[in-house]
Formats: sequence, structure tokens, C-alpha cells
Amino acid sequence: MHIEAKNIFHHFGTDSGDVSVLKDLSFSVANGSFVALVGPSGCGKSTITRLLSGLMQPVKGEIYISGERVVNPRSSIGMAFQNPVLLEWRNVSDNITLPLEIVAKSSPIKKRKIRAQELLELVGLTEFATNRPSELSGGMKQRVSLCRALVHKPELLILDEPFGALDAFTKEDLWQTMHELKRKENFTCILITHDLREAIFLADEIIVLTGRPASIQHKVKVNLGKNRKIDDLYSTKTAKTLAILRKQIEIGQSM
Ligand SMILES: Nc1ncnc2c1ncn2[C@@H]1O[C@H](COP(=O)(O)OP(=O)(O)O)[C@@H](O)[C@H]1O
Ligand SMILES: [Mg+2]
Repeated sequence: MHIEAKNIFHHFGTDSGDVSVLKDLSFSVANGSFVALVGPSGCGKSTITRLLSGLMQPVKGEIYISGERVVNPRSSIGMAFQNPVLLEWRNVSDNITLPLEIVAKSSPIKKRKIRAQELLELVGLTEFATNRPSELSGGMKQRVSLCRALVHKPELLILDEPFGALDAFTKEDLWQTMHELKRKENFTCILITHDLREAIFLADEIIVLTGRPASIQHKVKVNLGKNRKIDDLYSTKTAKTLAILRKQIEIGQSM
């Protein structure tokens, strides 16, 4: 799924006047690639995810997904957020299959459960299919949330700071899991984050945004290879990329 955002402008009307959020933002994401968007808090990152998923229309500019203009929400997109929001009255497996009840109503229940089990295996939670969300740790809940986002085999996965609330060790485990999921499930991915190591670990390209109104400050290609490990984040090469990113964020924020 190829994504093209062309000259996007967006603002919100508030009691104290218009707040300009996105300013002439253009970028493209190649089919099957993993792009991370990094930028200061409040610059407009979540607004970008809402525009990409068709939940909102930009004031000006166009977004195309596989050549088709985005004008309403699309079922070929999966999303996961900082807060996993699982339903306590459903067990883990039934939380994961929930989107299928909306976008694949006719798929047999048995098939849905098999798909949930397949994903639970990929994230290392095979044993927890019948547990309730409250019986899981924060990291486990986020794994379930990723499974739910992928259950309908979306072509595009949008992640809005999904690991932001987790402790450092859990986060690193989740990065590794996310990388394996991407290899096995083969979707295009857009990750919003303000964790630069996370962006370097997961992405093929990192786009640095300016402060609000967000526009593109800088782009960096990264590639830690197919069999990447967390230790790769502590190499000289990564340190150099981190330094470039920090510098560009600093410039972008001061604009
Ligand atoms: N529905 C809305 N109405 C008014 N202002 C909004 C709305 N949504 C977001 N904003 C404002 O737009 C700016 C960008 O928000 P957001 O995209 O959530 O930023 P980020 O995700 O980068 O932290 C913020 O100043 C926020 O207060
Ligand atoms: Mg946000």
C-alpha cells in the first residue's frame, strides 16, 4: 500500500481563534516500508494519523492510498495507540477478533479464533487467549492491542506512540516483537513516536517534523538489517544517526 500526502494544511478552530497544526506537509511511504514520524509533543502527529486513516479531512491538500484519494475511513487500515483500551468483559482472544465482527462479519467464528491464536503465537502470548485484560501486564496488553490492530490483515498499520507508556525493558521487548510482526505479516507501517531509538530500531526511514504547525524538517534512511537485535542500538553508527536526529529536532523546534 503506497501512501502519498500532498501539501497538507490543517487547522482547528478554537475559542481563542484558529490553531494551525499542519503546514504544507508532503511525504510518501512506499509499499511495504516502515516510516517513523518524530516530532515534539503537540506538533500535530496524531492529527496526521487521523487524516491518513480518513477519520478527518485536511483543510487543504490531498492524501492518496494506493492512488485512491482518502475521503472516508478505510477498513484496510489497522491502528494502535498508547492506551491499549481492551474490553474487560471479553477475554484476550475475543478482544483481538473484535474488528472482524465489524469488517468481516461473514467470516466463521472458528476461523476468527484461529487467526487470533496465530497472532498470539507471534507475540508470545499463546497461553493467554482466555485470560481477561485485567490479568495482563501493561506490555502484554499492548501486545494484544497490536494483535487486534492486525487481525483483519490490514495493508497499513498506523501506530501512535504505542510503546510510550511502557518501562524501558518492556519497550525494548516490544520493539523486537514489532519487528518480527512486520517481517511475518508484511504490512506498510507508519509509526508516530518521540523515542528516537525506537524509530531507529523499527523504521526504514525517519521523518523529523518541525514544531507546530508541523512540516517536514528532515528525513533519514535507516536500516538495522533483517535480524536486528537491541544491541545494534548501541553501535557507533546508531550513535551518529541519533546525533543527526537530535540536531534536526532542535532546529525544527526552534522554527
Ligand atoms: N479536535 C481538536 N480541536 C482543537 N484543537 C485540536 C484538536 N485536536 C488537536 N488539537 C490541537 O492540535 C495540536 C496538535 O495536536 P496533536 O496532533 O494531537 O499533536 P501530537 O500528537 O503531535 O502531540 C495541539 O495543539 C492540539 O491541542
Ligand atoms: Mg499525539
